[in-house]
Amino acid sequence: MKILVATDKPFAKVAVDGIRKEIEAAGYELVLLEKYGEKAKLLEAVKDVDAVIIRSDVVDAEVLDAAKQLKIVVRAGAGYDNVDLAAATAHNVCVMNTPGQNSNAVAELAFGMMVMAVRNMYNGTSGTELKGKKLGIHAFGNVGRNVARIAKGFGMEIYAYDAFCPKEVIEKDGVKAVDSVEELYATCNVVSLHIPATPETKESINYDLVNRMPKNGVLVNTARKEVIHEADLIRLLNDRADLKYVTDIMPAHHAEFAEQFAGRYFSTPKKMGAQTAEANINAGIAAAKQIVGFLKDGCEKFRVNK
Ligand code: 3PG
Repeated sequence: MKILVATDKPFAKVAVDGIRKEIEAAGYELVLLEKYGEKAKLLEAVKDVDAVIIRSDVVDAEVLDAAKQLKIVVRAGAGYDNVDLAAATAHNVCVMNTPGQNSNAVAELAFGMMVMAVRNMYNGTSGTELKGKKLGIHAFGNVGRNVARIAKGFGMEIYAYDAFCPKEVIEKDGVKAVDSVEELYATCNVVSLHIPATPETKESINYDLVNRMPKNGVLVNTARKEVIHEADLIRLLNDRADLKYVTDIMPAHHAEFAEQFAGRYFSTPKKMGAQTAEANINAGIAAAKQIVGFLKDGCEKFRVNK
């Protein structure tokens, strides 16, 4: 059996070594395709493999068509909006993610970006502190929970909204569960996004919602660019010079944001949330173990397609 690790944004070497150990211990062969850039290289690499480990790499119908032996794709990470689930099911390919394995890394980066924003992008002027401020966690999944844990150390007042998580679960973590997404934005000085990219969430972070934020509000995005209504956010940042936007996912209209909102907009050049050795090791090795479990014992835990 051949297991391909196809990561345009490579894992840390130590994580690749760990993945290799798992794969080889199971008697399988590891094939590595990193920084491949063009899709053609991925199409060539998947031809004769039985399993693939990916990150944000796109696995669509074309890739699945090319992968004649493929049985399983594991997205080493949380969001699987980069995989065409229906096409995978049609090709009889199991798709899994590795929930929770990189959440601390993403949550820590959210705080790195928050501090950067409230300290005026480190431009030498007096900023403000996070202590005593109201933090809104938009969606209380694995990353949201880690954000709540870290926010306690900062001395923030923590609020959360999650359309699918019961209020009692949120409040058990010492977080105030608000009744609506509108209330979250109207209440909080800083809102940190942790929603997945789905047809329902697409462009849901719009003018009306973000405009509810109090003066000097900061919106932090370590989730997905697709959830932002970019035209609305540009319009709003023009209307309200007090707001800031910091993101780990470069917007499609990055040049416009950078040009118009210097000093209150920041984007990482490449998504960095899960880019730590620890997250790479945790998610990568979990992915390798899930593949071995699936191929050897038919274990489908963490399967995300029907
Ligand atoms: C995730 O969904 O797990 C994160 O967004 C990290 O994505 P990455 O593995 O592409 O960095």
